[in-house]
Amino acid sequence: MQKIYFDNAATSFPKAPQMSHIISNFIDNNCVNINRGTYTLSDEVSDVVLSTRIRLASFFDCADLPVKFCKRIIFTSGVTESINMFLRGLLADGDHVVTGSMEHHAVMRTLYDLKRERNISFDTALCNEKGVVTASAVESLIKPSTKAVIINHASNVFGTISPIEEIGKLCKSKGIFFAVDTAQTAGMLDISMRKCCIDFLAFSGHKGLLGLQGVGGFAISEKLSEVLKVVKTGGTGSASHFYTQPDTLPDKFESGTLNLCGIVSLNHSLKFIEEVGLAKIREHERSLRRRFVDALSVFDGVTVYCGGDIFDTTSVVSLTFKDIDNGLVSSVLSSDYGIMTRSGLHCAPSAHSSMGTYPSGTVRFSFSYFNTEDEVDYAVDAVKKILKEKYNA
Ligand code: ALA
Repeated sequence: MQKIYFDNAATSFPKAPQMSHIISNFIDNNCVNINRGTYTLSDEVSDVVLSTRIRLASFFDCADLPVKFCKRIIFTSGVTESINMFLRGLLADGDHVVTGSMEHHAVMRTLYDLKRERNISFDTALCNEKGVVTASAVESLIKPSTKAVIINHASNVFGTISPIEEIGKLCKSKGIFFAVDTAQTAGMLDISMRKCCIDFLAFSGHKGLLGLQGVGGFAISEKLSEVLKVVKTGGTGSASHFYTQPDTLPDKFESGTLNLCGIVSLNHSLKFIEEVGLAKIREHERSLRRRFVDALSVFDGVTVYCGGDIFDTTSVVSLTFKDIDNGLVSSVLSSDYGIMTRSGLHCAPSAHSSMGTYPSGTVRFSFSYFNTEDEVDYAVDAVKKILKEKYNA
């Protein structure tokens, strides 16, 4: 039986071509620390880390001069850690936050936790019938105590894309910090921090950016970097004679040894993405999605969420099945057809509530640049067979 991976929204697989060679070469020849050693091997790894920061600063359009501004790229283990650093480092007694109903637990659980722990409050802008959290829905919830708006760029369940440029401009006009979770869009959509007036851009290295799990980070605006408190202190390899955390970037937010294997993987995968081009990646993923959605939309017994060309989405498609448990469908797809999907609530219960798929959730298919039309056709056929077995249709 063939094995087809359609769970790229959880993590991309395969990774960028030649990844195992790059990583094994790093482990065999350069696996030393940076900022802590005065030897060439360490300098060589520092160069790779610096070059990765520059690539990311340019990739997210942080500023005019990526070399200077690459210090505003901070490495973490991924979006969840980044968002924790943002919300926990920013919010204090009395602060209010606006978020959207498509958020992942990275945001929601952290906000709920802070609500219990500190006297903060938050409101959630409901998505419209198309699954989009609009700028006007966000604006209606802004109050004098609103300190930040935090929104995911695209839903990990339905693939719907938020109008971040409009929301960013709104936040800027009101003097509110704007944070965006790009877990589902970095490496897929063009994102300009400057154009969208983003103060905090959390990214994951192992999804659309095609790097290894355990690496990601955030890009931060100068204004926010000055006020954001540090939630993780420790060794940076710099200013060691002081017992206080350095104020300089990136050290202020990067205590402890970095995930250098992860950063090396990201450097390599970013080069690959630069070579192929985001537009080509986007077009391929979009055409796979369209092929899948168009083929399935004609069947009774299955509902395709946010399908068609009515509005733009990422390469994620969620399905529900009439009278068949989603978990069972996912499991049959795997056991009988070798197709890997994710079913359930996808750590985003409010996204499901706002689209009417709570509590049973959906079966999610998420395509990558490396999937093919044949794989999509095979999956359509598999779904057809499952429906036929159930309804004898
Ligand atoms: N947040 C990831 C997903 O949607 C892990 O599957």
